[in-house]
Amino acid sequence: MKTLCTCPRWLKILGIVTLVLAVIAGIVGYNRFMRDYGATTFDNPDDRFMYGSMGAENDAGIPYWIFYVLPRVFPDKLPKPGVGYASFGVVWEEGHELPVGFSKRRIGFDRVANTCAACHVASYRAKPDETPTLVVAGPNHTLDLEAFFRFLVDCAKDPRFNADTLMAEIDLAADMDWLDRLAYRYLIIPITKKRLIEREGQFQWIYRHDFPEWGRGRDDAMNLTKYFMIRWPMDDSFGPTDMPSVWNLKKYRPEKGDRMNFAGDSHDPYSVVIDSALGLMGAAPKNKQDFLGHIDWLVEYLKNKPAPKYPFPIDAARAARGKAVFDANCAACHASSRTGTVVPLAEIGTDRGRIETWNGRAAIEANRVVKDMGIERKGLVEADLTGYVAQYLDGIWLRAPYLHNGSVPTLADLLTPPAQRPQMFWRGYDVYDPARVGFVVEGAAAERAGTPYDTRLRGNGNGGHDFGTTLPAAQKTDLLEYLKTL
Ligand code: HEC
Ligand code: HEC
Repeated sequence: MKTLCTCPRWLKILGIVTLVLAVIAGIVGYNRFMRDYGATTFDNPDDRFMYGSMGAENDAGIPYWIFYVLPRVFPDKLPKPGVGYASFGVVWEEGHELPVGFSKRRIGFDRVANTCAACHVASYRAKPDETPTLVVAGPNHTLDLEAFFRFLVDCAKDPRFNADTLMAEIDLAADMDWLDRLAYRYLIIPITKKRLIEREGQFQWIYRHDFPEWGRGRDDAMNLTKYFMIRWPMDDSFGPTDMPSVWNLKKYRPEKGDRMNFAGDSHDPYSVVIDSALGLMGAAPKNKQDFLGHIDWLVEYLKNKPAPKYPFPIDAARAARGKAVFDANCAACHASSRTGTVVPLAEIGTDRGRIETWNGRAAIEANRVVKDMGIERKGLVEADLTGYVAQYLDGIWLRAPYLHNGSVPTLADLLTPPAQRPQMFWRGYDVYDPARVGFVVEGAAAERAGTPYDTRLRGNGNGGHDFGTTLPAAQKTDLLEYLKTL
């Protein structure tokens, strides 16, 4: 029988061998670089919130071993050398491989990305010698996010970020086969370097010397959205806020006109959670169905997560008297139909920096970007910002420092006339002060752990919200006691 091909037999064999090798290389390559091995599953919902992958490893992830060695290779670029990522104030549970708010997923190779918990898990201690208590969905008041962003870019720009130096450090800890070592050396390290350096353009405002440091526990979130999601040119605005608590989201009543985020720029929990998640992903989700499934889970979880109870003793008689003071002076905004709605800036008088970081045009643009991904949500409010939301005060004891920009250290200070509130203090120390209701903000330990906050600098103003500041001292004490019960 005659075959169709007349070429020599050896060439046919070579062709088949080449084809087989190409297929094997393709499979190996796919498995080692691209195949998504899926997210680790967690039985405990709190663990899922803290460590569960949303798929951000795809576009915003950092290869695990690079993440692992960066603090070892670049200790000089850490806020404090010697303690690795802990120097950024990340929350770390004993026995865990990664800090709270970091997820690991194998997409070809192990990659690390962030979860909501990087900013939305609080920690506190009653005494300095105690292990911190974690409160899931509470505000992370210790994280120096700006320093962390700068660290990654600064490492990538350093000549020491090269295959020889990084591989030497990786070899001390990792047990890689030859193929992974080749991949790290010739592909993963150079590509990661390039991608981190590319981020610098969008991060320009965090390098501006005329803007103050965000400091621990703060995030210039709407500027991040502007420069990363809708890729607007850099403007001159600056408005970092505290990380908010995200528990008990069922308190919001969007149907009655409640607004979310500090300046009321979003409509409802579903929209905020989607936008936050897209911020973490850095790109459209690879698998929309998986993504939206995770969003539904997050929304339900956060709606039903209760605010934490005050963990120290409360004087019940004082608190009862304090409720009357609250009803007379505070309830009109904080326990009424006004709660959750925007109070005009002229009436509240707090720092205006944050509302200048966002506007109606940006909202229209961001809503279009999300719609183009085929994602339906009510979205951002398409109007310019006019003031700040009168906050629900659930779990207010753990939300220090206070006001949207975190400019007032304790509740006692908030009940003090603005001109007498602390002008300089230290943020990010996690030992609690039950007397003033907030964290300890002065003294050697607070200075060691924290970052300085100067209320005279841009975006940091501590004026306004002078309600209750002229009450007699006894009424203030009663009111403070009542606020602990919320
Ligand atoms: C990098 C830090 C960071 C990460 C990560 C992050 N958030 Fe936030 N989140 C913030 C900040 C800061 C605000 C307040 C923004 C403002 O109003 O200026 C906020 C606001 C919110 C709010 C609105 C709270 C309210 O009461 O109005 C919700 C809800 C929320 N985030 C949920 C999430 C979820 C869910 C994720 C993960 C998908 C997430 N966030 C990821 C920092 C973060
Ligand atoms: C006219 C309305 C109004 C009244 C009255 C009012 N507040 Fe507020 N409150 C607000 C607004 C608006 C904000 C947000 C301001 C900001 O962050 O810039 C706020 C913020 C707060 C915060 C900070 C919340 C956080 O997450 O940091 C606390 C605490 C608070 N108020 C307590 C009180 C107490 C106690 C009283 C009564 C003595 C009171 N407020 C009276 C409107 C009001």
